Amino acid sequence: MPSHQPVRRIAVVGTGVIGASWAAYYLSRGFDVVATDPAPGAEANLHKYVDSAWPALAKAGLAAGASRDGLTFTADMGRALADADLVQENAPERPEFKVKLFAEMDRAAPPDSILASSSSGITMDVMQSGCKRPERCVIGHPFNPPHIVPLVEVVGGAKTSEEVIDRAMSFYASIGKKPIRLRKALPGHAANRLQAAVYKEMLHLIQDGVLSVADAEVAVCYGPGLRWGVMGQSLQWHLGGGAGGINHFMDHLMGPLVAMMKDLKMPDVTPALKQTIIDDVVKEARGRSVEELAEAENAVLLGLLALRAEFGSTLP
Ligand SMILES: NC(=O)c1ccc[n+]([C@@H]2O[C@H](COP(=O)([O-])OP(=O)(O)OC[C@H]3O[C@@H](n4cnc5c(N)ncnc54)[C@H](O)[C@@H]3O)[C@@H](O)[C@H]2O)c1
Repeated sequence: MPSHQPVRRIAVVGTGVIGASWAAYYLSRGFDVVATDPAPGAEANLHKYVDSAWPALAKAGLAAGASRDGLTFTADMGRALADADLVQENAPERPEFKVKLFAEMDRAAPPDSILASSSSGITMDVMQSGCKRPERCVIGHPFNPPHIVPLVEVVGGAKTSEEVIDRAMSFYASIGKKPIRLRKALPGHAANRLQAAVYKEMLHLIQDGVLSVADAEVAVCYGPGLRWGVMGQSLQWHLGGGAGGINHFMDHLMGPLVAMMKDLKMPDVTPALKQTIIDDVVKEARGRSVEELAEAENAVLLGLLALRAEFGSTLP
């Protein structure tokens, strides 16, 4: 197996919602980041985002040598990628656009660098189709916002090499992310599908008149959702099984759970249902801006991550 330089310089392609957050995170881990985005005002917006994210990142702990001065910006993608060890692509989610962009990135980046895409829904088979070196293309899908939430879903296309998938997994783990590897590509990857499964039932319970929008939020947030931030569902069933643990759970409690799964229904997502949710979410926000709510959520998430770290290996 060829040996590779460790990742030192990262190029961030596209600095919208996700790219700006990745850039802030990579800077906080001590990397040099070159960002590129053709939109007018992109450079100023990126600096603004990084400045606003920095206090939270500093509180969470900066890597040695981490500095916002490590950020440079160029509208010229060729220049941005010329010395990159890893490229994190975060451009608009349109298949034909990404195919063209990946072909350009493939021409511009050093042959041995990894081209990682944040795409939520386009498979790597599609994106790598115009590349001369498709083996170095991989999906590294973050959960929003990447500078706070550790999950990264890693999945290749048919032409992606195992070695690049391994390198991507090791890289993300080495910078404090929690990468998981998907053995198959599927629409929405895994975590968004889990979110969709829960939301499907929330919509059904609201539509069926069982719960108000606000109570559906409480049911998730102060019940299972609160625990999901600590342990995954399967380990929780182990706890649910009492002294007999997961074995007892499988013997005695899986049956009723399967019956409940069979009873789940697809909601009819009508304009009226959407409006009910919009009205109640606006009430729930109580006049606070999206930015204010995001800041509050990020602060609590970082607190939870710090608390988890205190418990060390007691937690998964
Ligand atoms: N928003 C989310 O919650 C989320 C979560 C995870 C992954 N993603 C994925 O991240 C990617 C970006 O999504 P987003 O929400 O940040 O979109 P966005 O619209 O906020 O940002 C896209 C950016 O790409 C820029 N861009 C356009 N053409 C470009 C080019 N040729 N080169 C470089 N940059 C270019 C745009 O100017 C814009 O700033 C998508 O693939 C999306 O699926 C989004």
